[in-house]
Amino acid sequence: MFERLREDIAAIRERDPAARSVFEVVTCYPGLHAIVLHRVAHACWHRGWRWLGRFTSQIARFLTGIEIHPGATLGRRVFIDHGMGVVIGETAQIGDDCTIYQGVTLGGTSLARGAKRHPTLERGVIVGAGAKVLGSFTVGAQAKIGSNAVVVKPVPAGGTAVGNPARIVMPAVAPSVARKEGAREQAGAAFCAYGITPNADDPVSLAIHGLIDHASTQAQRTDEIVAALERLGARIEALHGIDGGALVDLKRLCSVMEGEARGAERQL
Ligand SMILES: CC(C)(COP(=O)(O)OP(=O)(O)OC[C@H]1O[C@@H](n2cnc3c(N)ncnc32)[C@H](O)[C@@H]1OP(=O)(O)O)[C@@H](O)C(=O)NCCC(=O)NCCS
Repeated sequence: MFERLREDIAAIRERDPAARSVFEVVTCYPGLHAIVLHRVAHACWHRGWRWLGRFTSQIARFLTGIEIHPGATLGRRVFIDHGMGVVIGETAQIGDDCTIYQGVTLGGTSLARGAKRHPTLERGVIVGAGAKVLGSFTVGAQAKIGSNAVVVKPVPAGGTAVGNPARIVMPAVAPSVARKEGAREQAGAAFCAYGITPNADDPVSLAIHGLIDHASTQAQRTDEIVAALERLGARIEALHGIDGGALVDLKRLCSVMEGEARGAERQL
């Protein structure tokens, strides 16, 4: 039990730049208090002492403003920052190293008693302030949910979901990478306070991203040109032997060939 508490405190100090000391974390972090009380409520729930579990959860809510149903399953080092207004439903599952900000709801959309009605957050998910994640689906490992997003569909591992209804704005990483077992250190190292991408405003980083975007646009255009040439019957391997100058304006070559093809069609 103390081992768990120690790692909860360490996780808070690691993830909240405002946390200055262990004493401050133990006395001033309602998220920590809510999680400790949830462990008591969860144990009661699983021993069949349902009312006691619910009552403990309501005491925690009264003290912290965070309502976690005693049936919900929380992993290790889960951090609920600020916490006021957080509601976590009965069948929600929260993986290790997840971070949840104030006003988040992990809610259900079905009334089916006994069924899984609430979301599952895999390892390392960050849920921004005020976000609502509604339904029985999975938010993949290391995904980020923007503040005030309303998420009603699964989010792939490593993806970022924003808006209402939420859309994916950042590419997902390969689930095999994100789900890698024993990746706790990796998760810790990858954690960015408030889920923001580090160095997003750094001019060097912006320039590199600009170059990457430019290169990928060029590659896409070249593919389109090559596809157009092939449609016109050109053998692309035959172009490999010619000097670079001849390949400078493939687009022009393509339009000339298209023009010739149209002329030939007209003659037919
Ligand atoms: C969603 C989030 C994790 C994305 O951070 P990021 O990886 O740095 O991404 P960016 O800021 O580059 O944003 C990417 C895109 O999403 C949009 N976006 C970011 N956050 C958004 C939000 N909450 N709602 C709607 N759109 C959002 C941006 O405008 C941008 O759109 P664009 O590509 O059309 O310009 C972050 O913005 C966020 O909401 N974090 C939660 C913070 C929080 O709850 N803090 C509470 C502390 S008490």
